[in-house]
Amino acid sequence: MAAFTPRPRFPPPPPVPPTQESQLDRQLNTLITVNGLTGEVHTHGTTTIDDPLAQLGMKLFFTKALGGESSVACASCHHPALGGADALSLAIGVDTEQEDVVGRGRRHVDGLAKVPRNSPTIFNSGLSPNALFWDGRIERIRTVDQNGEAKVGISTPDSGFGVIDEAVPNNLLNALSRFPVTSKEEMRGTGFENAQTNQAIRSHIAAKIGGYASEEAPLATNDWLTQFRQAFGNNRPAEDLITFDSIAMALGRYQQSLNFVDTHWHRYVRGDKSALTQAQKRGAVLFFTQPNQGGAGCVTCHSGERFTNDGFFNLAFPQIGPGKTAQGQDLGRATITQNVQDNFAFRVPSLINVALTAPYGHSGVFDHLSQVVRHYVNPRRSVDDYFARGGACFLVQFRRDENCNDLNEGAIESTHQALRLLAQTPFQPVRLSPSEIDELVEFLNALTDVCASSRDCIDKYIPSQQQTDPDNLRLNATDARGNSL
Ligand code: HEC
Ligand code: HEC
Repeated sequence: MAAFTPRPRFPPPPPVPPTQESQLDRQLNTLITVNGLTGEVHTHGTTTIDDPLAQLGMKLFFTKALGGESSVACASCHHPALGGADALSLAIGVDTEQEDVVGRGRRHVDGLAKVPRNSPTIFNSGLSPNALFWDGRIERIRTVDQNGEAKVGISTPDSGFGVIDEAVPNNLLNALSRFPVTSKEEMRGTGFENAQTNQAIRSHIAAKIGGYASEEAPLATNDWLTQFRQAFGNNRPAEDLITFDSIAMALGRYQQSLNFVDTHWHRYVRGDKSALTQAQKRGAVLFFTQPNQGGAGCVTCHSGERFTNDGFFNLAFPQIGPGKTAQGQDLGRATITQNVQDNFAFRVPSLINVALTAPYGHSGVFDHLSQVVRHYVNPRRSVDDYFARGGACFLVQFRRDENCNDLNEGAIESTHQALRLLAQTPFQPVRLSPSEIDELVEFLNALTDVCASSRDCIDKYIPSQQQTDPDNLRLNATDARGNSL
C-alpha cells in the first residue's frame, strides 16, 4: 500500500497585476467583437497576378500608347511602387516636363496641376462593392424596368446617374477603365481630335493598339495581337479581338489582382497579439470608441474589415485646385446626384495602406496623417490654420511654384461653405490630446499590407525588363533624378 503522501502544498501564486497590455487587449477584444470583425477581408470575385488576363492588363496599364499623345500610362498616376497612387496632391497627366518621371518629381510644364483631384490608390479597388471615384460616379445600381423586372448594372458618366450603362459589363473596374483615356487632362491631351464621343475615342484607341484602320499614326512597334491572343486563348483577327471592351476587361483584371490586405491590424484581429505596438493598440481603442465614451468615433464611417462603410459624407476637408464647376468648386457627390444634400460629400476611403498613399483627401490637401487627424479634432480651426499657412502653397507639390496661390482661388470660401454644412450634420468634433493624436496615427500605420510596403514583394505587379514590351512605349517610371521607382 502506498504510503500516504500529502499533496505538496504550495503557497497560492500571488495575484498577477493585470499588465497594461492585457487590459488593453481585453478592451480591444470587446471592441473587435462588438464590431463583428474577424480579420479576414473577403476577396471573392478578384484574381491573382499570374492570371493571363491580369498579365495582359498589367502591360496595358503600363503602356503610354493608351494616351492620346502616347505620353501617359495608367501607371503614371497609379504606380504599385507608390502604394498604387502617385504621391502627389493633384494628379498630373499630359504635358509633363518629363513623361517617365512619376511621383513627387512629376511636374506639369506650367507648374500647376490641371486635374482637379487626388489619385486614389488602385490597391484593393476590386473590393469596393458599390462605387468608384471620389464622387462614386461609377456605381453599381438596381433599376426596375416598365415590366417590373429588376436589373443590376453599372451607371457611368456615359449613361448618367441612376441609369445603367448598357455598354459595360457588371464590373466596376472594367467600367472605370473606360474613362481616364477620354479625359483631356489625364491621358487624351490633343489626341483623337476628330472623335466626337467617348465611344469614338475608345474605338480609336482600340484601333491604335490593334494596328488596324485608324486615322492616327500607327504604332512604330506593335506586338499586341500576339499578347491578346495568348491572354484570351484564341486566334481571332485584331479587329475582333482588340476592342476597347477587351482592353477594359484586361485592365480590370489586372487591377483585381492588386489585393493588399494582410496588415498588422488584421493579423492582430486573427489572434497574433504581438502584431501591434502598445501605442497602436491605444490608437485602435480610440478609433473604435465613440466620442461620447472618450473615443474618436472613426469607426462610424471607417468601419468593417476594409475600414469604410462605402458611404458619402462631407467632412469639410479643405479644397484646393481647379475644382469641377465653372466657379472652381468641387461639390463632390452632389454633382452626380444633383441633390444639394450631397454638397461637398465624398466617398469614404478605405484606410488600408493609407500610410503609403499621402497626400490625403479628395484634393490632396494634407501631406501628413497627423494633419488629417487634427482636422477631425476641430475642422474649423484646421481649415483656418490651413489657409493661414498658405493653403496649396504649403504643400510639398506646390511649395516652390510662384503661382501656387492660383490653386487657392475660391478655396477658402468654398471650404467655409462646406464647414457651414458640416455644422448641420450629426458629426461631432472629437476631443483628443496630442499624444492621442499620435496614437491614432500609429494605429493608421498598422493598416499597411506587409507586401505592399516591400519593393521586392511588389515587383511582380510591375512589368520586368524580361517581359515583352509590345509597343516600346512602356512607362519605365523614375524619380526626378532618373532612378527607377
Ligand atoms: C493623370 C493621372 C491619372 C491617370 C493617367 C489615370 N488615373 Fe485613375 N485616377 C486619377 C484620379 C485623379 C482619380 C480620382 C478621380 C475622381 O475621383 O474624380 C482616379 C481614379 C481611379 C480609380 C478609382 C479608385 C477609387 O477607389 O475610386 C481607378 C480604379 C483608376 N483611377 C484606374 C485608372 C486606370 C485603369 C487608368 C488607365 C486607363 C487610370 N486610372 C489613369 C488619376 C489618373
Ligand atoms: C462622418 C464620416 C467619417 C468619420 C466619422 C471619419 N471619417 Fe475619415 N474620411 C471620411 C471621408 C468622407 C473622407 C474623404 C474626405 C474628403 O476627401 O473630402 C475621409 C478621409 C479620411 C482620411 C484620408 C484618406 C485618404 O486616402 O485620403 C483619413 C486618414 C481618415 N479619413 C481618417 C479618419 C480618422 C482617423 C477618423 C477618426 C478621427 C475619421 N477618419 C473619421 C469620412 C469619415
